[in-house]
Amino acid sequence: GVLAAVPLLTLLSGCQQTRQSLSIGDFASAYNREIWWMSLWAIALSIIIFIGVSYALFYTVNKFREDKHDAAPAQFHGNNRLEVALVVVPVLIVFGLSVLAVKSLAVVNAVDAQAPKIDVLARQFWWNFSYPAATAAAGGTVTNGNEMIMPAKQGVTLTITSGDVIHGFWAPNIGGQRAAMPAVNKVWTVDSDRAGAYQGNCSQLCGASHANMRYKVVVLEQDRYASTVSAMQAYRAPEPAPGSAEARGYALFMQGKASTRAQACAACHRVQGTTAAGAAGPDLSFFGTRRTLGAGMWEAMTEERWEDEQAAEQLHAWLKHAPVVKPGALMPRYDGGDYMIQGKVQKGGTLTDTEIDDIAAYLRSLRLPEAADYWRDTPV
Ligand code: CUA
Repeated sequence: GVLAAVPLLTLLSGCQQTRQSLSIGDFASAYNREIWWMSLWAIALSIIIFIGVSYALFYTVNKFREDKHDAAPAQFHGNNRLEVALVVVPVLIVFGLSVLAVKSLAVVNAVDAQAPKIDVLARQFWWNFSYPAATAAAGGTVTNGNEMIMPAKQGVTLTITSGDVIHGFWAPNIGGQRAAMPAVNKVWTVDSDRAGAYQGNCSQLCGASHANMRYKVVVLEQDRYASTVSAMQAYRAPEPAPGSAEARGYALFMQGKASTRAQACAACHRVQGTTAAGAAGPDLSFFGTRRTLGAGMWEAMTEERWEDEQAAEQLHAWLKHAPVVKPGALMPRYDGGDYMIQGKVQKGGTLTDTEIDDIAAYLRSLRLPEAADYWRDTPV
């Protein structure tokens, strides 16, 4: 127990600087504060015990060295007081630690039924975050893929589930982990006391792209959160101007073309306010507002980066052959190549580079109004 504290200390001491930090010592929540203090108590106690045991050991070794004694030391058998103490003291220590742990567990597992709700769906290898309150008012689901927004200084109650295998919901700055399991709803209240963007990862080995199953938690001040959710609720995907690249992309997105009809984007993806209602892939309603691509594989798709074309190239590569850049991704290839879905070879569709760029232009046009851009004022 004492030795285990050493690597734990090292683990907890690192990385305080960025919101990308995955250290639980980087508090952004009451959950982490609770766990942090409990750990410190446990570590402090371990250090005291370590010092006591070490002292007793060195004292004994030194005092009873053979060269200090001419004759054999006094021989005796049993010491009832000492034996009772050796049982009672550790039991008291363990009991004390369990009281601390039970108290902390009660705090971190408390569910606040009144808090705003977010439904979390994990799939191989992406996330959908739905806002049930906004959904009811919008007359349809309000969902964002791979980026979850939540209010600061107020709990949100998550209902976490999986559409396929077991995944793990884990945003270390916000709190602990919850398994996302098929046919099971895990209800869990999380909170954050600081606005900002935090990193989330899948924490359960779930297939080829487990490591590429990331998400962002964007914590907004409460009024910003409320206005963003109402903007999401009111959102209808913009109608592209006739003849524009967006309009051509829109047509391809909805219907594909003769050779890729069965693999049209809309068959698997949903865009709020259009007929695209697929549920096999992440919701794309706010794609243009998002700053991550491929479930967090690539970050910082800011306007500036679109201009230097790096992000544009990433998006192009993604649309062209997602399973090549992200192993195990269930999205088809559109460069005509073969790809595997659950051990079966599939023939990819074919789209020209221009057609891919048109679809990219359409996707980038799917954005919340400037005022509701939840990344505004939030460093990625
Ligand atoms: Cu999903 Cu690991």
